[in-house]
Amino acid sequence: MPRKTFVAGNWKMHKTTAESVALARELRQLLAQVRDRVQIAVAPPFTSLHPVAQALEGSNLEVAGQTCHFEVQGAFTGEVSAPMVREAGARHVILGHSERRQFFGETDETVNKRVHAALKAGLLPIVCVGETLQEREGNRTLEVVSRQVKGALAGIGADVGKTFTLAYEPVWAIGTGKTATSRQAQEVHAHVRSLLKELWGAAADEVRIQYGGSVKPDNAAELLSQPDIDGALVGGASLKAADFAAIVKAKG
Ligand code: PGA
Repeated sequence: MPRKTFVAGNWKMHKTTAESVALARELRQLLAQVRDRVQIAVAPPFTSLHPVAQALEGSNLEVAGQTCHFEVQGAFTGEVSAPMVREAGARHVILGHSERRQFFGETDETVNKRVHAALKAGLLPIVCVGETLQEREGNRTLEVVSRQVKGALAGIGADVGKTFTLAYEPVWAIGTGKTATSRQAQEVHAHVRSLLKELWGAAADEVRIQYGGSVKPDNAAELLSQPDIDGALVGGASLKAADFAAIVKAKG
């Protein structure tokens, strides 16, 4: 079974609720005809999760949270738990995004705790990994990505594992306009796939691995044509309906 392409838009800290709903409605219209061919999700900020989920009800667009806390509830000012994200209408949750690691102190260990909490709440994780420029230049890309993958997936078996999405996002390519070449990306994706095989055996062939980092309408087709690139996690270009729609349709 070929893996179904999965494209997700990470809106980050952009869009008020009214703007989010307007963008969701526009996307719903633009993307109605790709039903069944490509899986699509958008990840609005928490304040827009529920209204966007409502605006997309019955459509072929799904909703994702941008993170979730690992406890179900408690004294964690500013945090949102996995059951809350699920109840707001999300089916997926992005975990371990490099901005969370860089600016909010997330580690492989806390990402792993969030992965377990998400699964328990019925959310499908999109786990992000990727090296910094310094790590790439120091020839440490595969080592860093291996550590992140193994760390995030600790304690997860093949049965559940096959429902996962991973996103390889080289930190130096995020929001910079620099994209990894399709060769550079494919090399890391193949490496991640081989790690997943070690962990989960044949189930690794069912796991989608998205590429992220300055994916745009004009580079999406080339990236998505690589054998181990099964989709895209799109930041900046997901904020414009026409650009995101073009990326979703890029594979043809
Ligand atoms: P970008 O962000 O497309 O703006 O580089 C990607 C991401 O952070 O997921």
